[in-house]
Amino acid sequence: MAALDGATRGRLLFGGDYNPEQWDRQTWREDVRLMREAGVNLATVGVFSWATLEPRPGARDFGWLDEVLDLLHENGIGVCLATPTASPPPWLGARHPETLPRDENGTVVWYGARNQFCASSPVYREHALGITEALARRYGRHPALRLWHINNEYGTACWCDTTAAHFRTWLRERYGTLEALNEAWGTAFWSQRYDAWEEIIPPRRAQYLRNPAQLLDFRRFTSDALLECFTAERDAVAAHSPEVPVTTNFMPLFAGLDGWRWAAAEDVVSVDLYPEPAAGPEEPGGAAYGALVQDLTRSQARGPWMLMEQAASAVSWREVNQPKPEGLMRLWSLQAVARGADAVCFFQWRQSRQGSEKFHSAMLPHAGERSRTFRQVCELGAELARLAPVTGTEVPAEIAILHDWPAWWAGSQPARPSAAVDYPEILGAWHRALWTGNFACDFAHPEADLGGYRLVVIPQLYLLSDAALDNLVTWVRDGGTLVCGFFTGVADPDDRVREGGMDPRLRRLLGIETVHDWWPLPPGETVRLSDGGTGRLWREDLDLAGAETLAAYAEGELAGRPALTRAGHGAGSAWYVSTLPGHRELAALLAKAAAAAGVAPVLGGLPAGVEAVRRGELLFLLNHGREQVTVPLPDAYRASRDLLTGRVHATEVALGRFGVAALSPTPPTSEGSRT
Ligand code: GLA
Repeated sequence: MAALDGATRGRLLFGGDYNPEQWDRQTWREDVRLMREAGVNLATVGVFSWATLEPRPGARDFGWLDEVLDLLHENGIGVCLATPTASPPPWLGARHPETLPRDENGTVVWYGARNQFCASSPVYREHALGITEALARRYGRHPALRLWHINNEYGTACWCDTTAAHFRTWLRERYGTLEALNEAWGTAFWSQRYDAWEEIIPPRRAQYLRNPAQLLDFRRFTSDALLECFTAERDAVAAHSPEVPVTTNFMPLFAGLDGWRWAAAEDVVSVDLYPEPAAGPEEPGGAAYGALVQDLTRSQARGPWMLMEQAASAVSWREVNQPKPEGLMRLWSLQAVARGADAVCFFQWRQSRQGSEKFHSAMLPHAGERSRTFRQVCELGAELARLAPVTGTEVPAEIAILHDWPAWWAGSQPARPSAAVDYPEILGAWHRALWTGNFACDFAHPEADLGGYRLVVIPQLYLLSDAALDNLVTWVRDGGTLVCGFFTGVADPDDRVREGGMDPRLRRLLGIETVHDWWPLPPGETVRLSDGGTGRLWREDLDLAGAETLAAYAEGELAGRPALTRAGHGAGSAWYVSTLPGHRELAALLAKAAAAAGVAPVLGGLPAGVEAVRRGELLFLLNHGREQVTVPLPDAYRASRDLLTGRVHATEVALGRFGVAALSPTPPTSEGSRT
């Protein structure tokens, strides 16, 4: 299988989406001149070029793309060539309206924007494959080609009749018999029993709550239907260029695709990342969110990954779109590299003057080459070149956060104990608690081999398979430390509630006898705990059998009942967190569990807002605050050289506003000034 190193060839990739069809040839020449000036070595071409490449069915025009690829190649710029299938031309929808998706109400979603395709439509698939094969035949051996980029941000769902037929085929494969489907969906409830396959439809708009198991399967099906589109295009390009790696760019922490299954189907995992530009030690929201997405993407990739898109400055789709303050784009780009990215790319190279995203920033903005943004882009390009030694290296972690998409889907259905519980918020709160403590962590599938980890945390996995439960039990009994959040192990993969409301294997592991009730808290309310902390969103009325109480509820209906617990299993232990503790308390609890598991932070005692990440031999220090801070260096990094500046730091390093150091422990003998 081709891999990212086939594209990087020993240096970090730097570039962005390039849409030359919006510009004249003179501008193309200016583009390559400025790309070279900025150190760009990768241009993603053709993402939305279908209507230009195939202005009418079968009438293909590749001449302009030949010129663009040759021009980029002559200038030493590699190409990430996209299949343009995310945005079919108007003629496809006009001539074949059955390719257009329908929403839950059965309403057609028209062309005129993008992403207007039904993944189940054979006509869409045929045309998408047609243009893909033509591109692969023509450019599969082009010397500029580094990477294939299939479609763009897959995620469109459809409820049309073609989808209905496809859904039924998928269900037949999953269940075999209608009896098995009726059993799995619990159709005895509300007289929903299906008597013939033809009666089954996608969960369209209905009078009241729709069947949750059907909704869950429709999520699985939609992800799989899109994955079929991806793999068909992937195989078509691979047939002409087997050594060129293939990716598709994910949306970050996106609910619409099963990210583990998708990542396994790609050579290279890439993501688009647009955090809110708030930053600072008190509210490092964007940085914490970025770290989460980066850790997840690296874990999906099982190694180096690509930041396919980010904004050079402002986006255009929030209510108010502020530019990134000086230094923030650099900081977040280097954060991605620290957390395993081998490519730092942007949407887009040159800012459009027309169309829906004309106010979205770009590497080369409307303000041109003398702009603040372009200067920073050039500076970043030079710095990334200096970081070449990091390419291909790993980010070591002894902590795994368990995460899975079906658990997210099932646990987020309507009609549950509390609609105020938001899975991404819970996942974010737990990751952020580890991030604040500078603990390196991966994400893992609940059935994954956890052998390389010492601490495993489950912020929330409402749905757990038997295999996942057995995995956890074995891992803890083998000496692992597990910290488990509330509303976990509640349902099986059919969304059937397990015996006792929490699977008995998990209860035994956690030392819990009975979960009498879940007792959620309304948004904004907190509950005091006996250790001085607080909890929010959730409480549980637990009877313990073998676990000790670390903290009890200190007020309200559950006063005196256990809130935080721990059960020992030889060298292993299983902790339960039946509420969402405040940020500091959760960070302290996880630090305590990490200490018990023998896991140390990358670096302790750092000033607030400073992030420390190890990648390969390098120690990255990132100051997310606006004040200068001084970081004392650990022994292994005394007299280390900052690859970004070339300076050698003897015992400490000063980081200015949004400052970054990338310290290499082996300094050259004589050069460089010392601090
Ligand atoms: C996404 C898309 C891009 C562009 C950017 C900016 O990431 O993939 O085509 O629309 O958002 O909005």
